Amino acid sequence: MKNVGFIGWRGMVGSVLMQRMVEEGDFNVIHPVFFTTSQHGAEAPVFGGHRSTLQDAFDIDALSALDIIISCQGGDYTNEVYPKLREAGWKGYWIDAASALRMKDDAIIILDPVNHQYIQDGLNKGIKTFVGGNCTVSLMLMSLGGLFANNLVEWASVATYQAASGAGARNMRELLSQMGSLHAQVAKELQNPASAILEIEKKVTDFTRSGSMPTDAFGVPLAGSLIPWIDKALENGQSREEWKGQAETNKILATGSNIIPVDGLCVRVGALRCHSQAFTLKLKKDVPLNEVEQLLASHNEWVKVVPNDREITMRELTPAAVTGTLSTPVGRLRKLNMGPEYLSAFTVGDQLLWGAAEPLRRMLRILL
Ligand code: HSE
Repeated sequence: MKNVGFIGWRGMVGSVLMQRMVEEGDFNVIHPVFFTTSQHGAEAPVFGGHRSTLQDAFDIDALSALDIIISCQGGDYTNEVYPKLREAGWKGYWIDAASALRMKDDAIIILDPVNHQYIQDGLNKGIKTFVGGNCTVSLMLMSLGGLFANNLVEWASVATYQAASGAGARNMRELLSQMGSLHAQVAKELQNPASAILEIEKKVTDFTRSGSMPTDAFGVPLAGSLIPWIDKALENGQSREEWKGQAETNKILATGSNIIPVDGLCVRVGALRCHSQAFTLKLKKDVPLNEVEQLLASHNEWVKVVPNDREITMRELTPAAVTGTLSTPVGRLRKLNMGPEYLSAFTVGDQLLWGAAEPLRRMLRILL
């Protein structure tokens, strides 16, 4: 059995990874070694029944003994440890959730339902570094993969509705605290059906602007509002999150010099862990809608085409419906007024599953 090291298994993405690996019996076919950045020597978790102690995540000798390392520890850890390990001559497979190594020429962005062949070709060529994609990119490709695989997308414009989990565990807590603090301001008035809604709204708005809401993580109120900026600013006016859309999509699809333009606005909203995205797609030709639906639905076993029907859309195409599942539904499919090559689409997907943990555990399976 392969020795597989886990770093960052206790964090949010790591915890979802552990849960999925238990569900799929992955621990039965590996020898896991758990690492820690702070508590080495303490008892390791017993996923899959293996008892052990936690190893030091900065111990290059201990890491070098592994066949495969999976890190959900974050980019700073990767930047510090990965180069030392490779310099020490380690030839094992590094699987990472962080973006630090994503755009390196000797790294492949993993999303095997979309780029299985590219991953296989990379393995045959000796590639040893595999990195999970940005969550919006992975979720877009899981939902719209059928159009990209058939080379039908001329360009894609997107507006995202990204959940708090993408910003981290602290941010999720803060969103819920903000929601609670807003409600607490007007709880009494809400119990009285005769109270005036605009007075309630004014009280909430005044409180939102008062500086009394918890905002350490987001910097500004998110509950009852939104934040139309995610990640750092680039010099061209894009946010880094927006930049990733085109860069990572094209790297995953290995489009080479035939870049597919992908751009848009990335927005944080008050959802917990599902990212949603509204697309305008310019297709390379006028493909009939039923054919579009058929291509999308047959691309992988997780995508689901939601009919463009009000009731079904409200029931099935929402974060509330999709959270905690591997389903990556796509709906609101229709031709736009701009012309028969212009298609709208709305996608929803769990940011911690297909957007983060699932591609990592599936890459591990490919290596076993
Ligand atoms: N950068 C994403 C977000 C999550 O902020 O929602 C990670 O891919």
